[in-house]
Amino acid sequence: PNSHCRCAHKFCINDSPFKYYRKIGLFHSTDAEVSTRRKTFAEVQTERLEQAERTILIKCPPKINEKKLLQYLSSHGKINSHFFFENRGIHALIEFSEKNSIASLQDVIGIPSATEHHVVPFKSRLFIFTLKNPVGQAAAETPIHLSPQSHIPVKDLIQKLCGAESISSQMYTLLNEYQLTEENIKLRFLACSLVRDFARAYFPDSVVKPFGSSVNTFGKLGCDVDMFLDFHKTGKHTTKMKKGPFEMEYQMKRLPSERLATQKILSVIGDCLDNFGPGCVSVQKILNARCPLVKFSHQPTGFQCDLSVSNSIAIKSSELLYIYGCLDSRVRALVFSIRCWARIHGLTNSVPGAWITNFSLTMMIMFFLQKRSPPIIPTLDQLRELADKEDQHIIGGYDCSFVSDFSKINPTKNTETLDVLLCDFFEYFGNFDFRKNSINLRKGKEVNKPESSPLYIWNPFEQDLNISKNVNQPQLEKFVALARESAWILQKEDKTLRMVNKEPWGLAALLIPFGKSNPNKIKNRMKGIGSETIKSLLDSLKKLDS
Ligand code: CTP
Ligand code: MG
Repeated sequence: PNSHCRCAHKFCINDSPFKYYRKIGLFHSTDAEVSTRRKTFAEVQTERLEQAERTILIKCPPKINEKKLLQYLSSHGKINSHFFFENRGIHALIEFSEKNSIASLQDVIGIPSATEHHVVPFKSRLFIFTLKNPVGQAAAETPIHLSPQSHIPVKDLIQKLCGAESISSQMYTLLNEYQLTEENIKLRFLACSLVRDFARAYFPDSVVKPFGSSVNTFGKLGCDVDMFLDFHKTGKHTTKMKKGPFEMEYQMKRLPSERLATQKILSVIGDCLDNFGPGCVSVQKILNARCPLVKFSHQPTGFQCDLSVSNSIAIKSSELLYIYGCLDSRVRALVFSIRCWARIHGLTNSVPGAWITNFSLTMMIMFFLQKRSPPIIPTLDQLRELADKEDQHIIGGYDCSFVSDFSKINPTKNTETLDVLLCDFFEYFGNFDFRKNSINLRKGKEVNKPESSPLYIWNPFEQDLNISKNVNQPQLEKFVALARESAWILQKEDKTLRMVNKEPWGLAALLIPFGKSNPNKIKNRMKGIGSETIKSLLDSLKKLDS
């Protein structure tokens, strides 16, 4: 693997954003990288949701003949793309080019004969493929390629990082290992589309869309799928009707609050998933939360899912982060590295609590990037100034307008390396006056805290909300202490010495729990690093000397 690019590019071309944008389908064509326009957030969402509607998932036997399976399925229509992955057995995701191919396939598919159990006759897009005569039917000669759906273990990551040439290249390596793949993104949209099939039974116009880290360019392999039920098509209907000389409206059930309606809808959809959803397990209705939701585990895709109802502001936050993530390749590399650092040191946690969330941490990183001189990303107020008519959105009385077309945003003149940015991030927040100041991305400036929460980060759209209200003083202090220690390590460490001592350096040194800063302890922890890596470290040192 070439993580040692010596080219003169600002960032290694092997890790270039172009490769990523192509991977996640942001470019229209594959070859004309320069002339193509990046798709807006809404365009990517629409395209991916439509793709997912034409997609099915098949559980396959352990030895599967790829060619024969595809041949069989092709009799129902052209297949656009497919891949295999392992998740309690081999699965194939098949994307047809026409939606009606699925109907054609469903027509000839059998219903399982229930001997021990009774089946619920809900016909989904999840199938099981079996061989009638497993011995007689020739298995695949060439083993199928399985697309990985999880990232490498931290131990292996650290080993890889030790072989990189600079902190910057370590950060791009981490990004490449952790970021969502094209296949994983398809699977996420499929999970949403399968939930939509249930919602549609009640609300034919509804759509289930992913938001949060699945779509904001900051998701890592293995992160949850946040999805929400959107009824906006029904909204469109209302505006259309008002144009005529008459007014007609639906008779609809009236409830005292939107919250109650949300709770009722989620309760029913949650029951549906629980009772009839193939592979939907551990369904939990959390309807009394500030934002009511249904949590469930979707076994066929392997995702933990959080379903809520039209969270328009949350989707705007996702779009804002998407824009920031696409503007400059350093943004995502910095976020992935800091999120990984925070997770390893126990600053973030997968269960809710008084700790900093990935969302808050990402906002802090965006704020830091706004504060660079010259800034690496614009403030939200600047993005709002660039908004055109179609970008105007007022949601619940809050102005959520900002530009959606990237080409209107001037590229940054800042040329700082990631080595500098990582170290300065730790130094900046290690010395931030959290007692007095709050973090405001709309202005890109510290402002006096409006109330006494230990950490105050303004919700960029709902300006009266603190997105880090949950964080308590000890957690904030832990963050500050770890940031200071990390800045110290990066400033003081002698890379050459660390390499000679076979110790992890740079980002790798920050991804090992600091313990009592006993070097022997660190060495013991690093026993897992193979002699090959050490040899290559020494080799690269020799090159430095010559
Ligand atoms: N959100 C918000 N305000 C909060 C928490 C969350 O607006 N206080 C919205 C954000 O749009 C966020 C989304 O809800 O992206 C999902 O929240 P969460 O799953 O906590 O964060 P993710 O960004 O998805 O990150 P993770 O990888 O940790 O899931
Ligand atoms: Mg999430």
